[in-house]
Amino acid sequence: MSPNGAAVVAQAAADPMVTHPVMIRKLIWENDDTFTLSLDLGDALPDYRFLPGQFNMVYLYGTGEVAISISSDPAKTATLDHTIHRVGTVTTALAQRKRGDVIGLRGPFGSSWPVEAGKGKDICIVTGGIGLAPLRPLIYSILRNRDAYGRVIVMYGGRSPLDLLYRVELEKWGNDHRVETLVTVDRGDSSWKGNIGVVTTLFSYIKLDARNTVVYVCGPEVMMKYTVVELEHRGIPAEQVYLSMERNMKCAIGFCGHCQFGPTFICKEGPVYPLPKIRHLLDRKEL
Ligand SMILES: Cc1cc2nc3c(=O)[nH]c(=O)nc-3n(C[C@H](O)[C@H](O)[C@H](O)COP(=O)(O)OP(=O)(O)OC[C@H]3O[C@@H](n4cnc5c(N)ncnc54)[C@H](O)[C@@H]3O)c2cc1C
Ligand code: FES
Repeated sequence: MSPNGAAVVAQAAADPMVTHPVMIRKLIWENDDTFTLSLDLGDALPDYRFLPGQFNMVYLYGTGEVAISISSDPAKTATLDHTIHRVGTVTTALAQRKRGDVIGLRGPFGSSWPVEAGKGKDICIVTGGIGLAPLRPLIYSILRNRDAYGRVIVMYGGRSPLDLLYRVELEKWGNDHRVETLVTVDRGDSSWKGNIGVVTTLFSYIKLDARNTVVYVCGPEVMMKYTVVELEHRGIPAEQVYLSMERNMKCAIGFCGHCQFGPTFICKEGPVYPLPKIRHLLDRKEL
């Protein structure tokens, strides 16, 4: 465990600054501006392992490098998925790659969702937009070891029905009695029969056992901030809540200072933090 209480795994590569060439096996569009790159680790990284919530630095030769969370199942190591929102130079160029292209990878980096903290407890996962990507490996892990947990609740919000990620899986989880899946959208369409409203509106459909629930949160910062307020209203102790934060990254190993968040570097102590460590920073706009 790291000093902040979140688990950290050893880097796959001896030198964490060395980029490894990996091949794109598949590029799947999740919605209009988000795609999943499935990477074949092949011979380049045969011993690669990661923990749910960790990220890699994905490098497009000649263009640049970006931090991207790993979105695949940690138990399946032949391929590694990264779900990427097309926002700027590198992510737009990555979206134009195709099967067989080679890109660079280094990692895994950062802390992970503390899976052990949830054992024997109810689990509540609260996520919005692309925030579901770093939580998907956690959901896979929990479902694989389902008997170790109490209730498992997944709350997910998207801008519109077409913006929702992993729609096939969401439907599968929705039909799986082992997980309570609640989905909402900010704006519905003629096909949408579910809830309309921000993700915190989903709390009105469930009653949480405050003392016995561990909560994992990832999404836009404003969404996480209001989720924390909602959890506080419901009496969930801060030490039972974990959040994943994002900042621009360069080195990913604690040297350059790009990812500073208050007194911490997200690449080293984060991205996953226990709430008490960062609660006072959530309300500060300038960070
Ligand atoms: C730990 C971690 C995990 C991440 N996981 C994912 C993921 O799973 N999927 C994903 O799509 N993205 C993820 N990101 C964000 C991703 O790294 C940025 O979107 C990416 O660096 C943008 O690069 P670009 O060259 O395409 O955009 P740029 O041309 O660099 O910038 C485009 C716009 O995005 C803004 N921007 C750039 N980086 C960030 C950032 N980190 N946070 C907020 N705004 C930013 C810029 O200010 C600019 O307005 C993660 C970031 C971190 C730190
Ligand atoms: S990215 Fe360089 S210190 Fe975190």
